[in-house]
Order: sequence, then C-alpha cells, then structure tokens
Amino acid sequence: MKRSTLVSAARLVPLAWSHLRGEAADALFVGSGGTIDTTRPRRVYGLLNERCNLRCQGCPYWRMERYRTELTADEWIATLADLKAFLGPFHINFSGGEPLLRSDLPRILNFCRDHGIHAGLTTSGVLLRDRQAEELVEARLFNLCVSLDGVRAQTHDRQRGVPGVFDKAVRAIGLMRDHADKAGLSVPIIIKPTVSALNLGEMPALVSFAESLGCSVLFQPVSDWGTAETQALWIRDPAELQAIAGELIAMKAAGQAILNTAEQIRDWARHFAGEPVPMSAGSVRCSVGLDTLIIHADGELLNCYQWPALGNVRDGPIRDTWRGEASNHQRAEALGCTRGCTENCAVKRPVSQQVRGAIRLLRSS
Ligand SMILES: C[S@@+](CC[C@H](N)C(=O)[O-])C[C@H]1O[C@@H](n2cnc3c(N)ncnc32)[C@H](O)[C@@H]1O
Ligand code: SF4
Ligand code: SF4
Repeated sequence: MKRSTLVSAARLVPLAWSHLRGEAADALFVGSGGTIDTTRPRRVYGLLNERCNLRCQGCPYWRMERYRTELTADEWIATLADLKAFLGPFHINFSGGEPLLRSDLPRILNFCRDHGIHAGLTTSGVLLRDRQAEELVEARLFNLCVSLDGVRAQTHDRQRGVPGVFDKAVRAIGLMRDHADKAGLSVPIIIKPTVSALNLGEMPALVSFAESLGCSVLFQPVSDWGTAETQALWIRDPAELQAIAGELIAMKAAGQAILNTAEQIRDWARHFAGEPVPMSAGSVRCSVGLDTLIIHADGELLNCYQWPALGNVRDGPIRDTWRGEASNHQRAEALGCTRGCTENCAVKRPVSQQVRGAIRLLRSS
C-alpha cells in the first residue's frame, strides 16, 4: 500500500469507531422502547446552496423561483465547530445545488481540515478548474463524488440539460487526480450516476470507464423529485432492468469497483415498481431518525426530506436540538415509517460492507 493510502486508512479509524458506537446506541434506543437515547448523528450532509448552473431533468433545484437564504461561511464554520463539540471527529458530505458556485467553499473546507472534520463533496464537476482542484486537494478533501450520468457524452449532456458538460466532468476527475498525485495525497473519487431510462443500458460500461479513470461507482436510481420529466426518466421495462442489474451484480462479484451492495442493486426492481424498499442492512426499520442529520442551505436541520424540520442551527447547539422533543418524536416515528425509499434509509450498508467499501475506495485512489 502507498504511504498516502496508509495515512487515509488511519484517518478512517475514528470514523469506524463512531459507526460501531452508533450501532450500539441504535440498538439501545430500540431495545429500550426509546427511553434510553444515546444516539448521535453519524451521517451528516451539508447543503451549501440550492442554486445551480445545470438543468438536470430529474432535479428541481434549478427551477426554483426563490432560494433559501444561504448560511454564510462564518455561520457554517460555527455550525461545524458546534457539531465537532457534539460528535468528535465526523464525516460530512457537502452538496447543494452546486457547491462549487460558492467562492467561499475553500474556507469552509480548510476549517474542516484544520479541525479533524472529514469533508466530502458532491458536484457535477463542471465548474472545477485547475485552481479549484488544487484548493480541494490542499483542503485535504476526504472524498469527491462526481455525478456522471452516462458513458456517452450525448447521454450525460441530455440528462443534465446542458451540452458539453460530460467533457467538463471528466476533465474535473483528471485535474483532481493530477493534483492529488502531485501532493502525494489520496483523494478517492466516486462517480455517482443517477440511473434512469435514458442511461440504464450504459451502466456496465460506465463501471469500466470509471475504473479506467481510477474511480469507483455509487449508483443512485432516479427518484421522483416532482419534476415534469420524471415520467420520461422512470424505468418501465422490468426485463431490461433485471438484465442490467444482474450484469452489475456479477461485475461486483468479480471485484469491479461498485460501491452499492448487491441487495441495493436488486432492490431497483421494487423501487421502479413503486414498492417500498426494505433496508439493505436486513432491517425493516428506517434509521434516519437515529443517525442522519441534514443541514439545509439556510441552516434548517432535518432527518429526512419528507419530514418536518427539527430546528435550525441558529436556534442554539445542535446537541440540544438532537436531544429535544421534536427529534425524539421523529426518531420514533421514522422507525415506524413504512414508505421505504432508496434515498436515505435504504442506502445504509451493514458495517462489514462499509469497511469493505472503504478499503475498495482507498485501493482505487
Ligand atoms: C442534487 S445534486 C447536488 C450536487 C451537484 N449539483 C451534482 O449534481 O452532483 C446531488 C445528487 O442528486 C442526484 N439527483 C438529481 N436528481 C435526482 C433524482 N430525481 N433522483 C435521484 N437523484 C437525483 C444528482 O445526480 C447528484 O448526484
Ligand atoms: S442534479 Fe446537481 S447539477 Fe443537476 S440541476 Fe440538480 S443540483 Fe444542479
Ligand atoms: S423510509 Fe424514507 S421517507 Fe420514511 S423516514 Fe425513512 S428516509 Fe424518510
């Protein structure tokens, strides 16, 4: 193993410990009927904005008439410090909207680097130029997710609604790789396709393409986010879906760089048939109330996009909101939620598979 890979592996140890501790806290909460609550968020997402420069068919962000007022970089820094006091070392995935539209992103990421917070970033990659790639590497970005929706430029650009963006996304991956290599650092890059009727047939080839770029793949089946194009994106051919899912599962079994579990890929059939998807970890309960914290662009705190906000970072310490009445109520309610969806709860993987996934990521970087 390269030295940079060993350094990254060492950084995983506190996160793995926090996940194990979290699993025990979940079991205690459920086992005690909610009377013993030692849970803490361990899947943290930060939405830096809602604005976006692309026009993806399945996404509502770029169509909004009004956007939430964005937390400033100072407010983000105060929020991250507050969370660090609550959680110790933690991982946060920043997304949006398009996070690269924020010129103060390096300041936020540098704060993470300097305070033992592991920051990942999900982006279309289109705005990433040489200087931005260098800044992300300097900020010791923990991982980068680039949304790439096809192996053919035409497919990706069509789903993303803007011509020429495939080439820019691929360029972003190359720039990150070059700067990470130059700095002797390991920055795992994950290609994140939104799987739809437009691109399903290209998914096996996309895995091989990702590998040729030194990346792993994390599939996300398209969900109904309320856009007019959802109907056109929805996969309605169960036979084709089964064939492609089977091919991807075989590729994963052969050791190819797919981060989803085989069960998650198998569950696409239920998702596109409109049936609830059971948690892949084998449980029928949804754990978002126990482990997930979404910080929206304006500071609103959520467990799940379908549920009311728990509060706002401006209300006071996040620990108090997490331990407050609204959160406790939602924790219990979410455990009984029968909706079953592929966005939050069902993407959870058992610890053993998370460890295998982390090792795969480190090897590929
Ligand atoms: C909302 S975007 C924000 C980050 C960035 N703008 C990007 O595209 O990567 C986060 C992820 O959601 C995915 N996405 C967009 N519309 C979706 C939908 N209807 N269902 C599931 N995922 C979707 C995107 O492809 C992207 O991977
Ligand atoms: S998926 Fe990402 S890039 Fe596409 S419109 Fe939504 S926020 Fe923008
Ligand atoms: S099953 Fe889905 S909708 Fe229900 S609480 Fe979990 S993530 Fe939210």
